[in-house]
Parts: sequence; C-alpha cells; structure tokens
Amino acid sequence: MAIMQERRVTKILIADDDADVREAVAKILTFFGYEVTAAADGAEAVAGLDAEPDVIILDINMPVMDGFEALRQINQRDFGIPVIFLTGAGSMEYAVRAINLGAYDFITKPVDDLELFRIKIERAVEKRGYVLQERAYKEDLERQVKEKTSELEEKNRLLEDYSKNLEVATLDTMLSLQTAMEEKDVYTAGHTVRVTHYAMSIAEAMGVDPAEREVLRRACQVHDIGKLIIDVSYICKPGPLTAEEWEMMRKHPLIGENILRPLSFMDHELTIVRHHHEHLDGTGYPDGIGGDEIDLLTRIIAVADSYDAMTSRRSYRGNLGPAQAVEELNRCAGSQFDPTVVKVFSEIVNGRG
Ligand SMILES: [Fe+2]
Repeated sequence: MAIMQERRVTKILIADDDADVREAVAKILTFFGYEVTAAADGAEAVAGLDAEPDVIILDINMPVMDGFEALRQINQRDFGIPVIFLTGAGSMEYAVRAINLGAYDFITKPVDDLELFRIKIERAVEKRGYVLQERAYKEDLERQVKEKTSELEEKNRLLEDYSKNLEVATLDTMLSLQTAMEEKDVYTAGHTVRVTHYAMSIAEAMGVDPAEREVLRRACQVHDIGKLIIDVSYICKPGPLTAEEWEMMRKHPLIGENILRPLSFMDHELTIVRHHHEHLDGTGYPDGIGGDEIDLLTRIIAVADSYDAMTSRRSYRGNLGPAQAVEELNRCAGSQFDPTVVKVFSEIVNGRG
C-alpha cells in the first residue's frame, strides 16, 4: 500500500444524471474524507478521464451516454480504476450485467445503509491500491530487466571489442614474424605485401564479396609463415635446392598451418595457407588435392604467389619480366592454375603494362 500512502487524498468520480442523488452521494463521500468529482452523465465522466480517480461510481440510466457504454470506454483506457455501479432497487439484472462487463461492484440506491456503502467504497479503494502497486512492481521489473539487458549488451560489446583487438594484435604479431623472416633475405623482402596486393586486385576484379576478400587478405599476409623454421641458407642459396632441402621447403604450408592453428578465428585462412601450393591437376603439395577441392580464394593466392615468385629475383634462378611471367601462368592454366583466375590476372597485368 506504499503507493496509496504517498497520495494525500483518495479521489472518487461519480456520474449520475439525477442531481439529488449525485449531490447526496458526493456529500457522503466527502464526509468519509474522499475528494469527489461529479459528472452529469457517462460522456462527461469519460471526457478527459485520466488515471487520477481511484474509484468511479456510475449510474446506469443516463442521457447522452449510459453507464454500460461509459464502463466500456473506461475499461478501454486501462487505467485500472475500479468501477462501482449505482442501480435502482430491484434491478438485479442490471447489476449482474454490469459485473459481467467488468464492473468491480454495485450499490443500490437510494444509499441508506451508510456502513455498507463505506465498506464497499473502502474495498474498491483497496483494490485500486493493489492494482497500482502491481503495475508499479511490473514497471520496476521491466525497468530492471531493461537495465540488465543493456548492461549485458554493453559487456558483450566490450568483450567483442576485446576479442577483435586480440585477433588484430595476434595477426599483427604473425605479420611481424613473417616480415622479419622475409627481411632476412633481400630477394624475398616485400613478397607478402606484393602477393596480398595482387590477390586483392584479382578478388576485386572477380567480384569476390568483402567478407571473403578479408579472409583472402589475412591468408595472404601469413601464407608463408611456415618458412620461419626453414634455414635462411635455403632461401638464399645461390643454386637449385637439393632433394632434401626441397623436402624441407615443401613442408612450409603444413608448418604454417600448425603455427596458425591456435588462431581458431582464422579457420578458412588456415586451409588456404595449407593449400596455397596445391595444383588444379593434383600435382601440388602437401596433400595433392585438386579440382573442386581447391576453393576460389586458394586458387587466387596460388596465381598471385607464383607470379611474384617468378618476377622477384630468387637466388637459384633469374627473375622473369611481367609479360614472361604472365605467359608462364597461361601455359600452366588448367593444370596448375585456375584458367579464369589467370585470365583475370593477365588482364590486370596487361592493363598496367
Ligand atoms: Fe609458399
């Protein structure tokens, strides 16, 4: 009842077209300590109605708008105000109908049993108190749920930011490692940057969607990270590699995948790193997969990677010019490389040339 206690006076609205009844009832209610507002019919009672009254007393037969219609409209407003009907003696049928329509109680007029009248009004006021209390409780609960939800959303957002930052930081670390490795050899310096650039140009020209392009970009940035464990003397060696050295060299996609494995958010990138030396005809390494087993992003990186390998001078063979490298790509289109990717890339290189 805390809410009712906060209110100074309990307000009651009475609507009756009979001025004598209206005034008599108002007087009794005022005597009981209530603040009374009077209306001459249902329309007047309903017009401008707000949540102020704690109880509404309605006559049934009134001009302009009768009690039943007024009750219907009051209920529609959903202020939670109990309605008591005033019924003439002997019209029990009306009283029952009123209750069925959602009235809280009824009082027969003339009001001669003041004690009964007082009790009925008090009960209605009490009911109003419960309704307000329940509504306040519900509102408070909803507010708390809303607050908790937005708190949770905020925490989730922070967590997401944190995990995103962690992903970026981890990727940056990998990039630094790969760059450091490339810098050990003047001929491989910048390989990653160039491969990424070529691959992104192809992906854009082929209309690969932005999310996939991001995967490709990250895969390019770490594709050769497995070379970290390869002795730099292999990479710088001034001549062809021995069979043993080649065997070691061919392990770099697998080693790269293993190095990156803890980065579970880069699932697809890991597969691309593993397969960037596979050939369309199944003659590549490490798994010898081919055809549909090699996805588009992997096919793109394979072309970009090979082009850069051919055009940037390697220690054991001279480098090719762009036209010669494109010719070589075209020669191997269909066997080693995806023909469409080669075609798109040839156009890019030629366009530039
Ligand atoms: Fe590689």
